[in-house]
Amino acid sequence: MKAAWYTDYGPAAEALHLGEMPDPLPGPGEVLVRVRASGINPTDVKRRAGPRPGAEMAFPQIVPHSDGAGEIIAVGAGGPAERVGQRVWLWNAQWQRAQGTAAELIALPAEQAVPLPENTSFAEGACLGIPAMTAWYALYGDGADLAGQTVLVTGGAGAVGRYACQMARLGGARVIATVSSDEKGAHSTAQEWINYRTHDVADCVMRITGGAGVDRIVEVDFGANQDVSVAVLKPSGTIAAYASAGDMTPVLQFYPFLFANVTLRMLICYHLQGVARARGEAQLSEWLATGALSHAVVRGGALDDIARAHELVESGAKLGTVVLDV
Ligand SMILES: NC(=O)c1ccc[n+]([C@@H]2O[C@H](COP(=O)([O-])OP(=O)(O)OC[C@H]3O[C@@H](n4cnc5c(N)ncnc54)[C@H](OP(=O)(O)O)[C@@H]3O)[C@@H](O)[C@H]2O)c1
Repeated sequence: MKAAWYTDYGPAAEALHLGEMPDPLPGPGEVLVRVRASGINPTDVKRRAGPRPGAEMAFPQIVPHSDGAGEIIAVGAGGPAERVGQRVWLWNAQWQRAQGTAAELIALPAEQAVPLPENTSFAEGACLGIPAMTAWYALYGDGADLAGQTVLVTGGAGAVGRYACQMARLGGARVIATVSSDEKGAHSTAQEWINYRTHDVADCVMRITGGAGVDRIVEVDFGANQDVSVAVLKPSGTIAAYASAGDMTPVLQFYPFLFANVTLRMLICYHLQGVARARGEAQLSEWLATGALSHAVVRGGALDDIARAHELVESGAKLGTVVLDV
């Protein structure tokens, strides 16, 4: 099969190689998927670039990308034979595994291939594993009922943020997003947005909410936005933080959060498992089947274009998830 891989960390154009690899064989309980679309997330790009000084490759050769979509073409021993031919989207494909979706074929546990409805394209399916499920996890992973609540989604035009805006609205919440331009505000799908680069976010949120503040924050940059969180979160509110790239070791404002009885959740989608994952997948499947979600696909070209596509993700100059047609 044709695949892309790296054998050492480095810049995309140097580290990524294209060529032929042996076809994978599905093991017991696994499915073999003909990959049609491969989604590229910031985490794939950071992992290929070299996670941190001194980090060592977990495997000698890594086919990147956790997200993707395609069709099941075979199953391993004891696998679900009735699923051959099924369209699927994939999750955690390259999480603690050597082979991700930047290849024509992938073998992975059957539960990591979720049915993809006919009304959702493969490219859209390749946006679900990390961006959509992270958004669901942040909003609903703790069993929250958002009806009538106000949710602040920071970075509402991001791949995760835009799904969070949509999913919070679907749950009956009023959604305020922070963005860096009006174009991104419209893209976010939030009812209201604030340009966080030109405006005082805390002032704006308190004005918009008539001084009430927000019930929940879906946070893309915990450290950078902590002061805003302290200022706008209602007592007993929740912060669901999925990144803190602006300040990776922030000093926690413990007592302001404590006296407001705040719940601080830090979450990573790779660890969404078991009952909670099943709940998330069921809800996502329902939304997909009814066409309730829109997906922001940024066409990244074919597998041959993988290095340029990684650079596009790195640049941040994209509105949505960069997806390769495989
Ligand atoms: N924990 C998890 O499971 C998980 C899952 C997915 C992603 N992540 C991480 O989350 C981050 C975002 O991922 P993504 O795929 O959504 O990336 P993305 O599509 O590039 O979006 C990031 C968004 O965050 C905005 N942003 C950056 N700093 C901000 C700040 N201080 N305040 C408000 N908005 C800010 C950017 O807005 P502007 O460019 O307009 O400033 C951009 O719209 C990445 O670091 C990624 O690694 C974590």
